[in-house]
Amino acid sequence: MQLTSALIALGALVATDVNAATLPFNPLAGGGSCSINAVACKSSAPSNTCCLPTYGTVVFAQQWLPGYCQGSPSTCEINNPAKIWTVHGAWPNTCAGKQINSCPGMPQYSDVAGPLKSYDSGLVSKMNQYWVSYKGDNNAFWVHEWGKHGTCYSPAAKSCFSPFKTGQDIFQYFNWVLTLRTKFELGRAMSAAGISPGGTYSKAQIKAAITDQYPDLQVALKCTGGYLAEVYAALYATSSGGVAGAPLNDNDTCGSSIKY
Ligand SMILES: *[C@@H]1O[C@H](CO)[C@@H](O)[C@H](O)[C@H]1NC(C)=O
Repeated sequence: MQLTSALIALGALVATDVNAATLPFNPLAGGGSCSINAVACKSSAPSNTCCLPTYGTVVFAQQWLPGYCQGSPSTCEINNPAKIWTVHGAWPNTCAGKQINSCPGMPQYSDVAGPLKSYDSGLVSKMNQYWVSYKGDNNAFWVHEWGKHGTCYSPAAKSCFSPFKTGQDIFQYFNWVLTLRTKFELGRAMSAAGISPGGTYSKAQIKAAITDQYPDLQVALKCTGGYLAEVYAALYATSSGGVAGAPLNDNDTCGSSIKY
C-alpha cells in the first residue's frame, strides 16, 4: 500500500514538474537523494554513488527471442517465445566504455527470485514476462546477471539503504533495468517503422527504425542464423534510468539482410 502511494505520488510529481524536481533517487527502495536530471559521466554529475553508478555508461541489451529461437533452435530450450522484446541485461561499464564484471564488495546470490519476491512480488512477475531466459530457467539467468553486472551497479550497495531490508539491493538493480526497458521500447520502434515479425528487412531499415524513435542511440545489432536476436544500446546512466549518447564499443554481427 505504502509503495503504491509512493509510486502514484512520484508519477504525479514527474508528470507536472520534471525539471525542477529533486527526488529520492528511488522512492521504492529509500536511501539518498539526488536530482532526477543527474547524468553519469558528465562533469556536473554528483559523486554520490548511491545516486549515480560509479560505472556510469551502460550497455543495455534487449533480446528478441522469436528470432533467437528460430536462428538457433539447438540452444533455445523454450517453445514459442512471446513476440515481445525482453531484457538480456544492463551492464555498467566505465565512462570510457571499458567492460567491468563481477565487482568485489557486493554479494553474489544463489537465488534472486526468493529475496526479490519477499521485497516486492510485483517486480518478479514483471520480470517473468520481460526478462526471460531462452534456457527456461529465469531465476538462474537473473542470478547470473546480478552476479556479473548487478554487483557493479553502485546504487544497489546495501550501505545505500538504512535500514537495509532483504532483497532491497537486488530490487534496486532489477527495477532500474526494467525502467530502462520502458524508456527504450524496441517493439514500438519496429512497429512504428512497419517492421513486423516474419518479415525480412535491411540492416539500414532496422537501424533507422531505432534512431527515428531514439536519436543519438548507438546500437549494435546481433543476429543468430540470419535472424535478429539482440540489440545492444549504449546509455549514460541517470538517477532515474538512462539516456542515449554514450559511445558503444561493440559491433553489429548481422549481415545486410535481416530476418525478423
Ligand atoms: C569493431 O570493429 C572495429 C573495426 O573493424 C574494430 O577495430 C573493433 O575492435 C571492433 N570492436 C569490437 C568490440 O569488436
